[in-house]
Amino acid sequence: MTHEIAVIPGDGIGQEVTPAAVEVLEALEIDFEFREADAGDRVKEITGEALPEETYELAASADATLFGAAGETAADVILPLRDAVDSFVNVRPAKAYPGIDAVRPETDLVFLRENTEGVYAGHEDRLSEDVATLTRVVTQSASSDLGEFACEYVEDGEHDGFTIAHKANVMRETDGVFRDTIKSVADEHGVETDEVLMDAFATKVCLDPEQFDVVVCPNLAGDVLSDLAAGLVGGLGLLPSANIGPERGLFEPVHGTAPDIAGEGIANPAATIISAAMLLEYLGHDEEAQRVQTAVETTLESGPRTADLGGDASTEDVTAAIIDTL
Ligand code: NAI
Ligand code: MG
Repeated sequence: MTHEIAVIPGDGIGQEVTPAAVEVLEALEIDFEFREADAGDRVKEITGEALPEETYELAASADATLFGAAGETAADVILPLRDAVDSFVNVRPAKAYPGIDAVRPETDLVFLRENTEGVYAGHEDRLSEDVATLTRVVTQSASSDLGEFACEYVEDGEHDGFTIAHKANVMRETDGVFRDTIKSVADEHGVETDEVLMDAFATKVCLDPEQFDVVVCPNLAGDVLSDLAAGLVGGLGLLPSANIGPERGLFEPVHGTAPDIAGEGIANPAATIISAAMLLEYLGHDEEAQRVQTAVETTLESGPRTADLGGDASTEDVTAAIIDTL
């Protein structure tokens, strides 16, 4: 069966790293049908809309979507796109690779971030000049979906269990529901869990990342703590992510449009290419996914490398080296 892949490069370095990942996918000679669509600041300037209807529809119907990044319109693009694929979990591995000058070279973590609610549910109000408010939404149903996914994830990947990061000592109702629901799903599966307060996690993971493996987080905490982990492994240019839904997925680097280097052809394509490896695995091409992952790791170790990793290679040079290694 031919899988349809939506490709949405977006803005800034999204225009550079997304084609690089498509080149890698094309080199595998799998029978994919790529369909490109537009989103982000540039389209908004032209059409008035950051996420054109046809782009949303394409993501909602394709088997998988590869997304680059959007600039100031990021929230107007990525939140609806995650909704288009009905994604309830954002998988964010943060792994330090050999040969990379990482703050904590022993880091090997996976964040499973709730992807639909929490403080990103969109309930913000400006009550007066002085007062702005935000309503945090946590449901048993979304927490349970995340818990089920986390259990399958640790069972499939032969992990020992997972850690629930929360702040239920302060946000007793919302994070209480989050923690208790996920814990009870894990108990039903016979999956081991432990828990950590999310602020304490931020310190502990910096001092000794090896005490953690799979970390299940509410939406905002997962966003922030995975970026923190990016700092431990050598920068945002290395962090991939997968937004998983029941029938389709959207794969994107954790980083944004990097306006400070956009257009120079020097962006690190690794995060997007590893995201493409996650796409391959999602579609059942496990062997090809592993080949891409290994080719990226080999290239990171031997070079060429982009400037964010201390090298002077271009996006194209690194992509070509990864394809050669394949
Ligand atoms: P950013 O991730 O774009 O950049 C942060 C720093 O990391 C910059 O110094 C950048 O040069 C560097 N960097 C990021 N990716 C890199 C790569 N692949 N290779 C080399 N260096 C890389 O985050 P920032 O600066 O906070 O946001 C810039 C824009 O991106 C904003 O307009 C923001 O809204 C948007 N954004 C979009 C996201 C999305 O579409 N999912 C996610 C995060 C930010
Ligand atoms: Mg973020």
